Amino acid sequence: MRKKSILALSAFAAVSALLSSQFYTVATAQQDENWKPKWTEDGKLELPTGYREWVYLGSPLTPNALNGGEAGFPEYHNVYMHPAAYKIYKETNEFPEGTILLKELQLTKQAEEEDGSRTEVSGRGYFPAAFNGIDIAVKDSQRFAESQNWGYFNFGHHAPPYAASAAAAPVDSCAACHISNATRDMVFTEFYTILNTK
Ligand code: HEC
Repeated sequence: MRKKSILALSAFAAVSALLSSQFYTVATAQQDENWKPKWTEDGKLELPTGYREWVYLGSPLTPNALNGGEAGFPEYHNVYMHPAAYKIYKETNEFPEGTILLKELQLTKQAEEEDGSRTEVSGRGYFPAAFNGIDIAVKDSQRFAESQNWGYFNFGHHAPPYAASAAAAPVDSCAACHISNATRDMVFTEFYTILNTK
């Protein structure tokens, strides 16, 4: 087990070093299949590994207390993107085929006030607590031509462990709202400041 995790760690370090090296160009990233989504034989998306070390895009927050006690997703929505896809996006200004946007939900610490906030040494506000679910969007123009090239997946809205794989959600459950409301190519890029800065 120890040996395995050391191996996994050094593999990760090697990949990170490669990604940040000058030799890992946009062209290399475009041809590299390693960062692309993995599919099961019956066409489900496998839950990616190592995503908490991907590029962190931001965390919209919609607490219950500000949504009549019933926010759809009362947690922080921590959004991540694989560094290779990010590199291509920054160069081309397009989400490449195979882009995975992973949103991990993270609860806020127990409320002390009616608005859901509490007080910590830094002040009154909302503070991150346990992880509580994963939603994913994948860009694949072959599989998801009907929903503007993106497929949507729910790996569970609960504490880890999450589902190992997930089938694409029906268009009405997810894609429809992204089609009508998203800022850019089905993504709410307006909330991910690093995607909009040079
Ligand atoms: C009612 C509209 C709506 C529905 C339905 C919806 N989303 Fe979203 N989604 C949003 C909004 C708005 C954001 C960005 C702001 C936020 O997270 O609060 C977002 C963000 C995301 C993100 C982060 C990347 C991005 O596009 O900004 C993922 C991944 C995602 N949603 C997946 C899903 C999945 C999976 C489902 C279905 C289970 C789903 N969404 C259903 C509105 C919706």
